[in-house]
Amino acid sequence: MATYRIAVLPGDGIGQEVTPQARRILELVGRAAGLGFDFETALVGGSAIDEAGTPLPPATLALCRQAHAILFGAVGGPKWDTLPQEQRPERGLLGIRKELDLFANLRPATCFPMLVDASPLKRSVVEGTDIMVIRELTGGLYFGEPRGREEFADGGARAVNTMAYTSREIERVARAAFDVAMKRKKRLASVDKANVLVVSQLWREVVTRVAKDYPQVQLEHVLVDNCAMALVHKPTQFDTIVTENTFGDILSDEAAILAGSMGMLPSASLGGQGGRVGLYEPVHGTAPDIAGQGVANPIAAILSVSMLLRYSLERGADADHVDAAVLRVLERGHRTRDIHSAGTKLVGTTEMGDLIASEVEKSY
Ligand code: IPM
Ligand code: MG
Repeated sequence: MATYRIAVLPGDGIGQEVTPQARRILELVGRAAGLGFDFETALVGGSAIDEAGTPLPPATLALCRQAHAILFGAVGGPKWDTLPQEQRPERGLLGIRKELDLFANLRPATCFPMLVDASPLKRSVVEGTDIMVIRELTGGLYFGEPRGREEFADGGARAVNTMAYTSREIERVARAAFDVAMKRKKRLASVDKANVLVVSQLWREVVTRVAKDYPQVQLEHVLVDNCAMALVHKPTQFDTIVTENTFGDILSDEAAILAGSMGMLPSASLGGQGGRVGLYEPVHGTAPDIAGQGVANPIAAILSVSMLLRYSLERGADADHVDAAVLRVLERGHRTRDIHSAGTKLVGTTEMGDLIASEVEKSY
């Protein structure tokens, strides 16, 4: 029996609530499909600061390096908001991405037919939306040098971040995006700000060059401000999107609204250690306002398990079992608070996990 090492990093806030639900689904798939999983839990983010004094303890990083895949919850919270930037919980996540070289972040934004009315946008706008955002994850503004802050004698200050990319960094994420587009509708929108930024001009140049190797894919270049507008105006015009780190951070949150709720969106971060390790996390973050109440939606975390099966373990058929189980539970009208509306059945985090688990079990 194949055995896979899974590092489980629940982190903070609702990460602590949704990650156990994701893990149990993976355990269940393992039993049903004859896969062995060796789970090991580690500290990250604010809880790691509290218990080990740093957001990314060396033991956690070592565990991640040895894993086949990382099941991640979320990091951050008001309790740690006053810490200096370098010591904040978010550094834990950014550190893992950088240390493991997880450069391609896949964020699907799919509008599920039964949730069309959960989106604050009109049905006529969101219906049929099925987008995959590929966000570059280890370069750009979040990591570029120089960075820092200088204080002036007069009490003023100056702060700097740098959006820097090498052609190699652009090329590898562009290839990842073309590969994804090939498995979808073969349409790729590359998003940049080439009318202003020289780094975007390089981005455009490299993406255009890579496109020659993918003649079947229809490539268009879109300016980021225009893309932000088009996403809420006519999202169905997009299939696959590729963009730099910060633009992708912002646009993928915007795209989340198309899916009804952030609570529905999984993600995969790939490329690490020559593609040997992937990190899987819900996009939603720690949601401090609802943490500890048992009401968080575990679907994003559970769909992240599906991505883990598909991308790290090449178990596409098992991933389909998980996706189908989620759909069936939604079809039967069960909803967590974030997607609840009149006439549907309100359930909590664990109950939603129970319902999906029993559908997965039945499906094998
Ligand atoms: C995300 C988050 C992170 C990011 C934070 C927590 C550092 O917003 O995954 O989108 O900005 O990348
Ligand atoms: Mg974000």
